[in-house]
Amino acid sequence: MAKSTTTYVCQSCGAQSRQFFGRCSACGSWNSLVEQSAPPTDARRRRPAPALGGEPAPRRSEAMAAVGQRPLARLATGFGELDRVLGGGLVPGSLVLVGGDPGIGKSTLLLQTAAAMAQAESVLYVSAEESAQQVKLRWRRLDQAATGGDGPQLLAETDLEQVLKELEALRPAVAIIDSIQALHDAELASAPGSVAQVRECAAALQRLAKKLDIALLLVGHVTKEGVLAGPKVLEHLVDAVLTFEGDRFASHRLLRAAKNRFGATHELGVFEMRDRGLVEVSNPSELFLGSPEGLAGMATIVACEGTRPLVVELQALVSTTSYASPRRTATGIGTNRLHQILAVLEKHLGLPLSRFDCYLAVAGGLQVEEPATDLGVAAAVVASYRDLALPAGTVLIGELGLGGQLRPVGQLELRLQEAARLGFRRAVVPRGSAVGQPALEVHEAGGVAEALVAALGANLNDQD
Ligand code: TYD
Ligand code: MG
Repeated sequence: MAKSTTTYVCQSCGAQSRQFFGRCSACGSWNSLVEQSAPPTDARRRRPAPALGGEPAPRRSEAMAAVGQRPLARLATGFGELDRVLGGGLVPGSLVLVGGDPGIGKSTLLLQTAAAMAQAESVLYVSAEESAQQVKLRWRRLDQAATGGDGPQLLAETDLEQVLKELEALRPAVAIIDSIQALHDAELASAPGSVAQVRECAAALQRLAKKLDIALLLVGHVTKEGVLAGPKVLEHLVDAVLTFEGDRFASHRLLRAAKNRFGATHELGVFEMRDRGLVEVSNPSELFLGSPEGLAGMATIVACEGTRPLVVELQALVSTTSYASPRRTATGIGTNRLHQILAVLEKHLGLPLSRFDCYLAVAGGLQVEEPATDLGVAAAVVASYRDLALPAGTVLIGELGLGGQLRPVGQLELRLQEAARLGFRRAVVPRGSAVGQPALEVHEAGGVAEALVAALGANLNDQD
């Protein structure tokens, strides 16, 4: 038994120190240090790495070209959208962390996945948060439950040791742990959900999963600050980190990969929460398009999430301010970005926007970070200021430079294809993009004024 020493562990980054500090010296967060009496080194000794039999042969390096390659096997999850985000399906023996706010639908997503995969593979669903009865109640609401068969194996358990034993006994192809924070290792003194517990439970599960080639899906909770609890600890341990997000007031849910060792990140999966569970949305653009007829202050952009173009509507409201400093509010794009675009419009088009409040919203609660939305934002603002409607069926794509110039954006061809597919007829894009898109009337513009004239068909320079 090692001498019991007290360590203090930061609950947000996992850094340890012997002394208590009000602020973590590693990540800088306040009041995050928690006393822990059993140091994790003890626990690590308890489960030693498997000893190599006899004399260990020295490992030698080999030339890259000589390294043998096995094709990656992939298991279909039953959701095309989930497969896309995973990079083509679930890799056997991989460890995937699925994070998201409480109530967003993580348990629903994984229970449906378990149901679909149980048709072809053996699947274990470990519920550490809900009782077997509660899971069964949810199960009965799902469409997948009606497909027959025995469904996945269910274990309602919070003790890590029991979960490991069941994994060893059942040896499923896929195991789902809902959630990693609710599991607990009886040999650690700290409370379930603490960094030490989360790290130890995940590491123990991973060792076993790699040994038995089990694909492991872990549910992780998001803390008040919006990060996965114990983020640094889990994120580098796992092969992929998926985040499930959405607006509480809207029914659609977005699944993204924040990290993926087996595929591209920034892929997007779109689902809709219905009363019988989650349904995939294969035409997400239709979700983010509102009214077909043009209203003043509305503009349509094509954002790109990974390789997935999304046609999205923006709305701006510009009205005379009654404050000393005008209000600027943006939902769905960064406020700094809006400030910058307003400054460019003020300077290069001579619009007196500093005397106007300006509100901007992206339809459907979507977050668009891309600079390619700049031209759409500018057009929505100018259209609202001038009380003009953009001609119906026009999309705007382009990044705005501080000098008022339009910068080319990536994946333009893909964006235009999507716009054409949804019935748009005109596009305003940066000059020099050289695209051949016969289905659309493409206007190229070098600067913001030229682009807005092409889009709105009006002379924009303001003299007052
Ligand atoms: P849940 O999967 O429990 O979320 P998490 O595990 O991320 O906390 O999702 C629960 C929410 O989803 C709950 O508010 C009810 C809703 N829901 C539906 O709308 N339809 C359904 O068929 C199910 C199962 C849940
Ligand atoms: Mg849950």
